[in-house]
Amino acid sequence: MSPERFIPGKESSERTSKVILTLNNVSVSKGENEILSGVNLNITQGEHAALVGSNGVGKTTLFEVITGDEQPDDGSVLVSRGLNIAYVPQSIENVFPKDQEHTVLEYFLHARGLDVIQRRMHELETVFTQQKTGLEAELDEYGELQTIYQFKGGYTIESDAKAILDGVGLPENIGLGTMVSNLSGGEKTKLFLAQALISNADLLLLDEPSNHLDPDSVAWLGDYLRSYRGAMLVISHQPTFLNAFTEKVIELSLEDRGAFTYTGGYESYEAQKAQRDFEREKTAMRTDAEIARLQEQADRFRAGVHSKTSKDRQKKIAKIEADRTTRKRKEKVIRIGFEVETQSGYEVLKTSDLIKRYGENTLDYSNINMDIIRGEKVAIVGPVGAGKSTLLKIIAGVIEPDEGTFIIGNKVDIGYYSQEMEDLNVDNTVLEEMRSIAGAESDQRLRTFLGAFLFSGDDVFKPVGVLSFGERSRVMLAKLALGKHNFLVLDEPSNHLDVASRNSVAHMLKEYAGSILLVSHDEEFMEGIGLNKIIRLPDGTVFQL
Ligand SMILES: Nc1ncnc2c1ncn2[C@@H]1O[C@H](COP(=O)(O)OP(=O)(O)OP(=O)(O)O)[C@@H](O)[C@H]1O
Ligand SMILES: [Mg+2]
Repeated sequence: MSPERFIPGKESSERTSKVILTLNNVSVSKGENEILSGVNLNITQGEHAALVGSNGVGKTTLFEVITGDEQPDDGSVLVSRGLNIAYVPQSIENVFPKDQEHTVLEYFLHARGLDVIQRRMHELETVFTQQKTGLEAELDEYGELQTIYQFKGGYTIESDAKAILDGVGLPENIGLGTMVSNLSGGEKTKLFLAQALISNADLLLLDEPSNHLDPDSVAWLGDYLRSYRGAMLVISHQPTFLNAFTEKVIELSLEDRGAFTYTGGYESYEAQKAQRDFEREKTAMRTDAEIARLQEQADRFRAGVHSKTSKDRQKKIAKIEADRTTRKRKEKVIRIGFEVETQSGYEVLKTSDLIKRYGENTLDYSNINMDIIRGEKVAIVGPVGAGKSTLLKIIAGVIEPDEGTFIIGNKVDIGYYSQEMEDLNVDNTVLEEMRSIAGAESDQRLRTFLGAFLFSGDDVFKPVGVLSFGERSRVMLAKLALGKHNFLVLDEPSNHLDVASRNSVAHMLKEYAGSILLVSHDEEFMEGIGLNKIIRLPDGTVFQL
């Protein structure tokens, strides 16, 4: 076993500035698109870095380059020898082990590399009980294994595991003896994050880990990461979360191409970026003014004897244009509203004593009988597993309740945003996906519409299946907006959105004239909407706002 495998772990207290990961001028293309170009970055031992940037800029792709799942077309990726990397992707669908007939503890032992050691120790123990002498080599080996076992945290794994299970918010009935195969999809997602945290990897790569967590768990994770001894690169669109543990921010930028490293925490990054944007804007405005002045002269001297001067001015303009590196920023934000085609009746939704059963698990909604009236905006909050998505699915007509009734009011037209975005057809292009609900709209109009949701030019011909999660989310929102529904039932619509898009969507929902039933755990987003009421599950407490 090479000693480098143990680099930072939780045990080592030394921290050096040894570089453990370097990307040199990395470029990646997919299909016709250049996704990353000229990316340079490095991570040193124990360094806590954030990776930020707008939806579709290539953050997930960058992680895949680091793990080797994606080959760069150009440039190099240098990972220090024996480096232990734990990667938690944005969706665990393709990475969760197929073989799930293990207990949670076994799964964790494996993550820490303790299962192999434990097995060998047990083998040796059997030998010791059968044979009493001539076992020097075995005893030496056993002693060595014990040291490694302790070094890898074998004797603390149970208490570490309990703290982490609790921290990520897995319900109390899930313990170290629970079979992994018995967990729900959401629970597996948390377990996957938990095993990465418990692995004590030298480098954690976490792709939007806070998306699957309640606010309490997000705060816990921020603290956990702050005191983590290993290095990390964490993708997130949540400033408060990142601010808890980052000491360096790497930004991928569509505008400038490449990766820019800012030292300091997230707040410091925001300040530096604002200053940088301000300087750029000033330079851009000065250049614009200079061009306008030359253009005015060129126009004035165009005729007669002065035409040479005019040409000279035009040349100068061309040179300035070619050389300029900064332009006035055209901020790309979603710029459209959610409209209502026909108003609904006054009563929009009334639920009474709904109950849904999944095997032994009963979801009882009788303490949150709802009455939503026209124009009302209601949010449901509560821990994962409380049954928020199930309730929305019942109301959207995707599944049926086992007991109770609900009434959808007169002329109510529901637009539903499902958390998993499963109603998107991944084989359709973006344009075809819109066409599937568009009726007689022309392609041109649909493309204009998609443009407002930041799909321009050839973007509309991309298959949905290749889109980033934030981009998929924008397709869902575009479909909802096109539908001009009067009642929006939204399950965590802000989950994958970058900061700018999330703010736009909150604003759109604020201006929306219809009614809203929303599930979210994104407090900033909810604040932006101007909700009338928040209902908390499972107790059913109502907060009138
Ligand atoms: N096969 C492909 N052909 C064309 N474009 C692709 C292909 N695969 C991915 N892309 C594009 O690559 C870009 C980067 O995707 P990536 O998933 O890395 O983005 P991201 O920064 O992680 O975004 P998000 O914040 O939404 O998760 C996206 O615009 C995506 O549409
Ligand atoms: Mg991504």
